[in-house]
Amino acid sequence: MAAVLTRIDPSASMMILALVSGLLIHHASQNAVAVDSGSSCNSDSAKWPGPPPFRECRLQYYVQVVVGDVSLNQNLLPPLNQSYSGPFGHAELFAFNATEKPEQASTRIGFVRGFTIDSAYKASDIVDLIEVELISYDDGKYKGTIQIQGEIRAISPNEVAIVGGTGSFRGARGFGFIERVLFDGPYRRFHHDLHFIYN
Ligand SMILES: *[C@@H]1O[C@H](CO)[C@@H](O)[C@H](O)[C@H]1NC(C)=O
Ligand SMILES: *[C@@H]1O[C@H](CO)[C@@H](O)[C@H](O)[C@H]1NC(C)=O
Repeated sequence: MAAVLTRIDPSASMMILALVSGLLIHHASQNAVAVDSGSSCNSDSAKWPGPPPFRECRLQYYVQVVVGDVSLNQNLLPPLNQSYSGPFGHAELFAFNATEKPEQASTRIGFVRGFTIDSAYKASDIVDLIEVELISYDDGKYKGTIQIQGEIRAISPNEVAIVGGTGSFRGARGFGFIERVLFDGPYRRFHHDLHFIYN
């Protein structure tokens, strides 16, 4: 380690030292927490600060998309090599409204933000997107974010994984189905049907 440090400039070694000591402090505080709480760390989630915990099995809403609107950037990253590997590497960035009912003007319950990256390696008709998505949810009772990841293909419904959350959705786990229910000019509508699993 020391031999490596002498060969790089001083500000970089300061950064590495800061990083290492940060990790050590983090490690030490993790140990301290584990000793203090024993096996009871999940028992009092209702007493944690913030909105009430979401404990229902299912959450459904609709995502409204307008192609051509600034809320959808279809050129975040260009394909790596269109002629050789088709859309591989192409990325899009989005920030859409989520509504309670199918209609675009229905009550908004949050925002859906994220990105997709095309991961189909060879030029073909296959659409194979990796999607990373964050739902900022607020229906007046439950409030927080739900993190979703999954593979999006041309034929819906697509299944995604719920990998975590914040606020009302701390520790969220489960799966969801994303289905396109409208394709009309520039308008697209997706139905999200999330299922939560508790242990
Ligand atoms: C794309 O890939 C082909 C095949 O490997 C290669 O001949 C070509 O130079 C690449 N194009 C670019 C822009 O990298
Ligand atoms: C989201 O809803 C607001 C208010 O209804 C509207 O002004 C805005 O254009 C919508 N955004 C998108 C991306 O649809």
